Amino acid sequence: MAVDYTTRDGVAVITLNNPPVNGLGHSTRAGIVDGLARAASDAAVTAIVITGGGKAFSGGADITEFNTPKATQEPTLHTVIKEVEKSAKPVVAAIHSVAMGGGLELALGAHYRIAAPGAQIALPEVKLGILPGAGGTQRLPRAIGLEAALNMIVTGVPVLSEKLANSGLFDAMAQGDLLEEAIAFARKAADKPGPYPLVRNRKIEHPNAEGFLQFSRNTVAAMSKHYPAPVKCVDAVAAGVQQGFDKGLAYERECFLELVQTPESHALRHAFFGERAASKIPDVPSSTPTRDIQKVAVIGAGTMGGGITMNFLNAGLPVTLLETKPEALDRGLATIRKNYEAQVKKGKLSAEKLEARMALIRPTLTYDDLKEADLIIEAVFEELGVKEQVFKRLDEVAKPGAILASNTSTLDVDKIAAFTKRPQDVVGLHFFSPANVMKLLEVVRGKETGKDVLATVMQVAKKIRKTAVVSGVCDGFIGNRMVEQYIRQALNMLEEGALPAQVDRAIEKFGFAMGPFRMSDLAGNDIGWAIRKRRYQEQPDMKYSKVADRLCETGRFGQKTGAGWYDYKAGERSALPSKLVDEMIVAYSKEAGVERRKIGDEEIVERLVFALVNEGAKILEEGIASKASDVDMVYLTGYGFPLWRGGPMLYADTVGLYNVERAIRRYTQQPNGDAWEIAPSIVELAAKGGTFN
Ligand code: 3HC
Ligand code: NAI
Repeated sequence: MAVDYTTRDGVAVITLNNPPVNGLGHSTRAGIVDGLARAASDAAVTAIVITGGGKAFSGGADITEFNTPKATQEPTLHTVIKEVEKSAKPVVAAIHSVAMGGGLELALGAHYRIAAPGAQIALPEVKLGILPGAGGTQRLPRAIGLEAALNMIVTGVPVLSEKLANSGLFDAMAQGDLLEEAIAFARKAADKPGPYPLVRNRKIEHPNAEGFLQFSRNTVAAMSKHYPAPVKCVDAVAAGVQQGFDKGLAYERECFLELVQTPESHALRHAFFGERAASKIPDVPSSTPTRDIQKVAVIGAGTMGGGITMNFLNAGLPVTLLETKPEALDRGLATIRKNYEAQVKKGKLSAEKLEARMALIRPTLTYDDLKEADLIIEAVFEELGVKEQVFKRLDEVAKPGAILASNTSTLDVDKIAAFTKRPQDVVGLHFFSPANVMKLLEVVRGKETGKDVLATVMQVAKKIRKTAVVSGVCDGFIGNRMVEQYIRQALNMLEEGALPAQVDRAIEKFGFAMGPFRMSDLAGNDIGWAIRKRRYQEQPDMKYSKVADRLCETGRFGQKTGAGWYDYKAGERSALPSKLVDEMIVAYSKEAGVERRKIGDEEIVERLVFALVNEGAKILEEGIASKASDVDMVYLTGYGFPLWRGGPMLYADTVGLYNVERAIRRYTQQPNGDAWEIAPSIVELAAKGGTFN
């Protein structure tokens, strides 16, 4: 049963019972209507309380039902809310923990609302590319005022119930036991004769509603270029203000049905479920025991070690930070402090919190201080020899059961694990730079990594608010292995006729935060050079355009040397097309015997994105990633892939794998066609009309 029905002191209590978040799926909706009918026909019942069991009042409509017949099957949420409003006996919503989306809309239909403190109140539909579709755009402005409501609706950000205590949303705040107080409130309400108050009958008061709405529409439109939902939110609220509740409600419904079909909404929902799916590892059940992580140690206080440390400090966990030399330790600590000070300056952190976080660091130069750590993360130089020294030492000092993690970005985690006598405790934790900011964490599963170790680090990742995606061991793991093919195509296109600014412009127009050449200038062109040099040794047959090597031979390593694919003015970050580099590229084509041609933006985008898709497909075939949405999450959270396109694999599904295959085959015929080797799964899926997701 998705709903429980009981009576207490003449009050019917309808408790949503659809774990984990009391989503308002069909059976829950039907259960509420049944409960209302039972209460109506029971003469001993004078009032009704609706509440949620478990950890939520309600997380809203059941998103998994969207675009399925169940979503529109009666009773719809509209019908449920109508039944609540129609009830001759007063209905009280008893809100705790979470009242979001349809959950809040249901509560807004009740005659009265009582809330426990600490509940997250939100209309987060916009984050899923839709708008509140069960009256939220109409009732919330009537409950808390136009400006406050519009702000909640277009941002989707939760507000704590106590902050809304005097907003007009709640009739009472619970002081103790929510349910007891709700029942008492309901009994008292029933003492008075109906009809009972309805939010829909309230007026929206605003001195200049028209002006405010116009201003909001312009601001929202400018801030949400790629997303249709936010402007529709404003339009729906405006419809209610201008034409009244019923017409507003009808318009809201129309917008909802339109938005739920958009590719943007599809992509955002994919990302919502993809994030949650990433934390589930097929052969590591949720019942897997985890290890207790209270004390963390980080080795190396450089770029990555410092950022990694901050994640744990932010989560309140103490960190022992080890370096080889006092200067390096001081430098690392100073950088962490500077980063926090920048947050204090922006008003994002208080000075006290800064000190409290710094106080959680225990700086050290000796391994003996790592004895108590439950999790040790190594972030020293990227050389196998240095990693060997560190892991052998860790094997000597770390307590039994401590998790030993490496932040290596290119080295073999199995080799690192083999430096210890406890490979089951070793795992890769590949953070992205800047590690205190970037959401992505690739969890690299070695062939002997223990399941409990994996389960534990996934839990830790959640605690430090990272999106963790599991990757098997391979060169580059998921993200960098794919990006290598993307960069290869970018370089080949320079050789064939494009210039850096054109490539960057095309892919940035597609939606990437930064094109490959601007990104490379930012990260340092020498990094890719070092990888290519290694490749030339390891895989002499793999053809690479040498155009980037030419650039590096001139010392143009990017922003840090003041020149890369672009020119940079001292102290500025704007990338200025470089005549010198462009001439060098043209000369290189000639030398390579390639006749330059005009390459269109469409080809640029296809070659770059399909290179990601093709490698992503191989990564799935090899089991390096366990599901396509994991690959998408890596690209959405670590590589600036446009969120509204849902990641490379979903994008490929959207374009159609038949079309992807045809395009790749076409590019295979071109002069640099040997860079492509189509993934068998693309061919197979295309043949049967399948998709990755
Ligand atoms: N529908 C279906 N499943 C949902 C859901 C929903 N509305 N909300 C959460 N879930 C599922 C998650 O997918 C996850 O499933 P899993 O265990 O199988 O992975 C499970 O519930 C737990 O979710 P979280 O891991 O996110 O749990 P938290 O405790 O961290 O967070 C939450 C709970 C704050 C409710 C968070 O899940 C959330 O933000 N959910 C989305 C809320 C939302 O967007 N609601 C609006 C829905 S659209 C709507 O209501 C339309 C209406 O206007 C008509
Ligand atoms: P870095 O050079 O900024 O920092 C390395 C730090 O380790 C230095 O402070 C050095 O003094 C210290 N160190 C060296 N040997 C040590 C030892 N034996 N014991 C203790 N400390 C030692 O390097 P960075 O960029 O922080 O990289 C560290 C690791 O993170 C590397 O494995 C790298 O591949 C990986 N990584 C780097 C990313 C980046 O963007 N910089 C991204 C993801 C991973």
